[in-house]
Amino acid sequence: MTKPSITRSRINEILRRSDEFIRSFGYVLPPFAYWSPAEFRAKKDDAKAIIDSNMGWDITDFGLGKFDEQGLFLFTVRNGNADDLKKGTGMLYAEKVMISRENQYSPMHRHFLKAEDIINRGGATLVIELFGDTDGKCDRSKGTVVHCDGVRHEFEPGHKLRLEPGQSVTLMPNEHWHAFWGEGGDVFVGEVSTVNDDNTDNVYEDPRIARFSGIEEDEEPLHLLVSDYAKWLG
Ligand SMILES: [Fe+2]
Repeated sequence: MTKPSITRSRINEILRRSDEFIRSFGYVLPPFAYWSPAEFRAKKDDAKAIIDSNMGWDITDFGLGKFDEQGLFLFTVRNGNADDLKKGTGMLYAEKVMISRENQYSPMHRHFLKAEDIINRGGATLVIELFGDTDGKCDRSKGTVVHCDGVRHEFEPGHKLRLEPGQSVTLMPNEHWHAFWGEGGDVFVGEVSTVNDDNTDNVYEDPRIARFSGIEEDEEPLHLLVSDYAKWLG
Protein backbone atom coordinates (compact mmCIF):
# COMPACT_ATOMS: atom_id res chain seq x y z
CA MET A 1 0.00 0.00 0.00
CA THR A 2 1.40 3.38 -1.04
CA LYS A 3 1.78 5.88 1.80
CA PRO A 4 -0.78 8.73 1.40
CA SER A 5 0.75 11.84 -0.13
CA ILE A 6 -2.41 13.74 -1.19
CA THR A 7 -5.94 14.13 0.19
CA ARG A 8 -9.14 13.13 -1.61
CA SER A 9 -10.48 16.68 -1.20
CA ARG A 10 -7.44 17.99 -3.10
CA ILE A 11 -7.94 15.34 -5.81
CA ASN A 12 -11.60 16.38 -6.17
CA GLU A 13 -10.60 20.03 -6.45
CA ILE A 14 -8.00 19.18 -9.13
CA LEU A 15 -10.63 17.13 -11.04
CA ARG A 16 -13.09 20.04 -11.14
CA ARG A 17 -10.47 22.61 -12.13
CA SER A 18 -8.93 20.33 -14.78
CA ASP A 19 -12.28 19.51 -16.39
CA GLU A 20 -12.99 23.24 -16.71
CA PHE A 21 -9.52 23.88 -18.21
CA ILE A 22 -9.90 21.07 -20.78
CA ARG A 23 -13.40 22.28 -21.80
CA SER A 24 -11.98 25.78 -22.38
CA PHE A 25 -10.18 24.28 -25.43
CA GLY A 26 -13.39 22.74 -26.81
CA TYR A 27 -12.31 19.22 -25.80
CA VAL A 28 -14.89 17.17 -23.89
CA LEU A 29 -14.04 13.97 -22.00
CA PRO A 30 -16.01 10.77 -22.73
CA PRO A 31 -19.21 9.88 -20.77
CA PHE A 32 -17.53 7.51 -18.27
CA ALA A 33 -15.50 10.45 -16.96
CA TYR A 34 -18.63 11.74 -15.23
CA TRP A 35 -19.91 8.53 -13.60
CA SER A 36 -20.17 8.71 -9.82
CA PRO A 37 -18.46 5.89 -7.90
CA ALA A 38 -21.91 4.29 -7.39
CA GLU A 39 -22.72 4.46 -11.13
CA PHE A 40 -19.32 2.98 -11.92
CA ARG A 41 -19.97 0.09 -9.53
CA ALA A 42 -23.38 -0.54 -11.14
CA LYS A 43 -21.88 -0.59 -14.64
CA LYS A 44 -18.68 -2.43 -13.80
CA ASP A 45 -19.44 -5.58 -15.82
CA ASP A 46 -20.09 -3.64 -19.02
CA ALA A 47 -17.20 -1.32 -18.21
CA LYS A 48 -14.66 -4.12 -17.91
CA ALA A 49 -12.56 -2.77 -20.80
CA ILE A 50 -12.32 0.64 -19.07
CA ILE A 51 -11.23 -0.95 -15.81
CA ASP A 52 -8.86 -3.54 -17.27
CA SER A 53 -7.00 -1.04 -19.44
CA ASN A 54 -6.96 1.70 -16.77
CA MET A 55 -8.85 4.29 -18.77
CA GLY A 56 -9.97 7.38 -16.85
CA TRP A 57 -8.82 9.99 -14.35
CA ASP A 58 -5.24 9.83 -13.15
CA ILE A 59 -3.85 12.47 -10.83
CA THR A 60 -0.41 11.97 -9.38
CA ASP A 61 2.06 13.82 -7.19
CA PHE A 62 4.55 10.96 -7.74
CA GLY A 63 4.27 10.14 -4.05
CA LEU A 64 6.17 13.30 -3.10
CA GLY A 65 3.37 15.31 -1.48
CA LYS A 66 3.87 18.56 -3.42
CA PHE A 67 1.52 18.40 -6.41
CA ASP A 68 2.05 22.03 -7.48
CA GLU A 69 5.80 21.48 -7.86
CA GLN A 70 5.95 17.84 -8.99
CA GLY A 71 2.71 16.42 -10.30
CA LEU A 72 0.63 15.70 -13.34
CA PHE A 73 -3.01 15.54 -14.30
CA LEU A 74 -3.84 12.81 -16.83
CA PHE A 75 -6.96 11.28 -18.30
CA THR A 76 -6.61 8.11 -20.37
CA VAL A 77 -9.27 8.45 -23.06
CA ARG A 78 -8.54 5.10 -24.76
CA ASN A 79 -6.04 2.31 -24.31
CA GLY A 80 -5.46 -0.91 -26.23
CA ASN A 81 -4.51 -4.38 -25.22
CA ALA A 82 -0.99 -5.53 -24.30
CA ASP A 83 -1.72 -9.00 -25.74
CA ASP A 84 -2.55 -7.39 -29.09
CA LEU A 85 0.85 -5.70 -28.97
CA LYS A 86 2.53 -9.13 -28.71
CA LYS A 87 0.43 -10.37 -31.64
CA GLY A 88 1.21 -7.25 -33.67
CA THR A 89 -2.41 -6.75 -34.64
CA GLY A 90 -5.50 -5.28 -32.98
CA MET A 91 -5.92 -2.34 -30.60
CA LEU A 92 -2.32 -1.26 -30.30
CA TYR A 93 -2.93 2.40 -29.52
CA ALA A 94 -3.74 4.75 -26.67
CA GLU A 95 -4.72 8.38 -26.18
CA LYS A 96 -4.36 10.55 -23.11
CA VAL A 97 -4.92 14.16 -22.28
CA MET A 98 -2.76 15.80 -19.64
CA ILE A 99 -2.29 19.16 -18.00
CA SER A 100 1.19 20.43 -17.23
CA ARG A 101 0.81 23.43 -15.01
CA GLU A 102 3.23 26.32 -14.99
CA ASN A 103 6.54 25.11 -13.48
CA GLN A 104 4.92 21.80 -12.45
CA TYR A 105 7.64 19.22 -13.05
CA SER A 106 6.95 15.74 -14.45
CA PRO A 107 10.10 13.87 -13.45
CA MET A 108 12.73 12.40 -15.76
CA HIS A 109 11.68 8.99 -17.09
CA ARG A 110 11.66 6.63 -20.05
CA HIS A 111 9.42 3.77 -21.14
CA PHE A 112 10.09 0.09 -21.87
CA LEU A 113 7.43 -0.39 -24.54
CA LYS A 114 5.52 2.80 -25.20
CA ALA A 115 6.32 5.09 -28.12
CA GLU A 116 4.53 8.39 -27.52
CA ASP A 117 3.79 11.62 -29.29
CA ILE A 118 3.56 14.45 -26.77
CA ILE A 119 1.48 17.27 -28.23
CA ASN A 120 0.90 20.84 -27.09
CA ARG A 121 -2.87 21.12 -27.66
CA GLY A 122 -3.11 24.68 -26.34
CA GLY A 123 -2.26 27.16 -23.63
CA ALA A 124 1.30 28.14 -22.76
CA THR A 125 4.66 26.62 -23.79
CA LEU A 126 5.45 22.98 -22.99
CA VAL A 127 9.12 22.48 -22.13
CA ILE A 128 10.49 18.95 -22.60
CA GLU A 129 14.00 18.26 -21.30
CA LEU A 130 15.73 15.42 -23.17
CA PHE A 131 18.64 13.07 -22.48
CA GLY A 132 19.91 9.90 -24.14
CA ASP A 133 20.13 6.41 -22.65
CA THR A 134 23.11 4.19 -21.82
CA ASP A 135 22.39 0.66 -20.59
CA GLY A 136 18.88 1.58 -19.42
CA LYS A 137 20.05 4.61 -17.41
CA CYS A 138 19.53 8.30 -18.06
CA ASP A 139 22.85 9.47 -19.54
CA ARG A 140 23.24 13.18 -18.77
CA SER A 141 26.23 13.37 -21.14
CA LYS A 142 24.32 11.98 -24.11
CA GLY A 143 22.22 13.89 -26.60
CA THR A 144 19.19 12.77 -28.57
CA VAL A 145 17.82 12.57 -32.07
CA VAL A 146 14.06 13.13 -32.09
CA HIS A 147 11.37 13.91 -34.63
CA CYS A 148 9.14 16.94 -34.05
CA ASP A 149 6.06 16.80 -36.28
CA GLY A 150 8.00 14.54 -38.65
CA VAL A 151 11.14 16.67 -38.83
CA ARG A 152 14.44 15.24 -37.54
CA HIS A 153 16.36 17.18 -34.88
CA GLU A 154 19.67 16.44 -33.20
CA PHE A 155 19.90 17.84 -29.68
CA GLU A 156 22.65 18.33 -27.09
CA PRO A 157 22.27 16.51 -23.73
CA GLY A 158 19.63 18.23 -21.59
CA HIS A 159 18.18 20.21 -24.48
CA LYS A 160 15.00 21.97 -23.47
CA LEU A 161 12.61 21.54 -26.34
CA ARG A 162 9.94 24.25 -26.30
CA LEU A 163 6.65 23.14 -27.87
CA GLU A 164 4.14 25.85 -28.72
CA PRO A 165 0.44 25.05 -29.30
CA GLY A 166 0.12 22.71 -32.29
CA GLN A 167 3.67 21.33 -31.99
CA SER A 168 4.61 17.79 -30.95
CA VAL A 169 7.54 15.43 -30.42
CA THR A 170 7.82 11.66 -30.89
CA LEU A 171 9.59 9.88 -28.01
CA MET A 172 10.80 6.32 -28.43
CA PRO A 173 11.00 3.65 -25.71
CA ASN A 174 14.40 2.92 -24.11
CA GLU A 175 15.95 5.76 -26.10
CA HIS A 176 14.53 9.11 -25.02
CA TRP A 177 14.62 10.14 -21.36
CA HIS A 178 12.22 13.02 -20.82
CA ALA A 179 10.89 15.41 -18.18
CA PHE A 180 8.42 18.22 -18.85
CA TRP A 181 6.62 21.26 -17.43
CA GLY A 182 4.57 24.28 -18.44
CA GLU A 183 6.31 27.61 -19.07
CA GLY A 184 4.50 30.94 -18.93
CA GLY A 185 1.21 29.30 -17.92
CA ASP A 186 -0.67 25.99 -17.89
CA VAL A 187 -0.61 23.70 -20.93
CA PHE A 188 -3.25 21.35 -22.33
CA VAL A 189 -1.21 18.36 -23.48
CA GLY A 190 -2.19 15.45 -25.71
CA GLU A 191 -0.54 12.06 -25.87
CA VAL A 192 -0.99 9.59 -28.72
CA SER A 193 0.94 6.39 -28.12
CA THR A 194 1.18 2.66 -28.38
CA VAL A 195 -0.80 0.66 -25.82
CA ASN A 196 0.34 1.52 -22.34
CA ASP A 197 0.49 -0.06 -18.88
CA ASP A 198 1.42 2.59 -16.33
CA ASN A 199 1.93 -0.05 -13.65
CA THR A 200 4.93 -1.52 -15.45
CA ASP A 201 6.15 0.75 -18.25
CA ASN A 202 7.62 3.82 -16.49
CA VAL A 203 11.24 3.98 -15.36
CA TYR A 204 12.19 7.06 -13.32
CA GLU A 205 15.72 8.37 -13.00
CA ASP A 206 15.04 9.04 -9.29
CA PRO A 207 14.12 5.70 -7.68
CA ARG A 208 12.07 7.47 -4.96
CA ILE A 209 9.45 8.43 -7.55
CA ALA A 210 6.17 6.49 -7.51
CA ARG A 211 3.85 6.59 -10.54
CA PHE A 212 0.66 6.66 -8.46
CA SER A 213 -0.14 8.59 -5.27
CA GLY A 214 -1.47 7.15 -2.04
CA ILE A 215 -4.65 9.02 -1.07
CA GLU A 216 -5.84 10.15 2.36
CA GLU A 217 -9.64 9.77 2.35
CA ASP A 218 -11.03 12.97 3.89
CA GLU A 219 -14.18 13.16 1.72
CA GLU A 220 -16.09 11.06 -0.84
CA PRO A 221 -14.51 10.78 -4.31
CA LEU A 222 -16.24 12.86 -6.95
CA HIS A 223 -15.07 10.36 -9.59
CA LEU A 224 -12.82 7.32 -9.30
CA LEU A 225 -9.19 7.51 -10.40
CA VAL A 226 -7.68 4.55 -12.27
CA SER A 227 -5.67 3.85 -9.11
CA ASP A 228 -9.01 3.51 -7.21
CA TYR A 229 -10.48 0.77 -9.38
CA ALA A 230 -9.03 -2.22 -7.52
CA LYS A 231 -10.15 -0.95 -4.11
CA TRP A 232 -13.51 0.65 -5.00
CA LEU A 233 -14.76 -1.72 -7.68
CA GLY A 234 -13.56 -4.99 -6.15
FE1 LIG B 1 6.62 9.55 -20.99
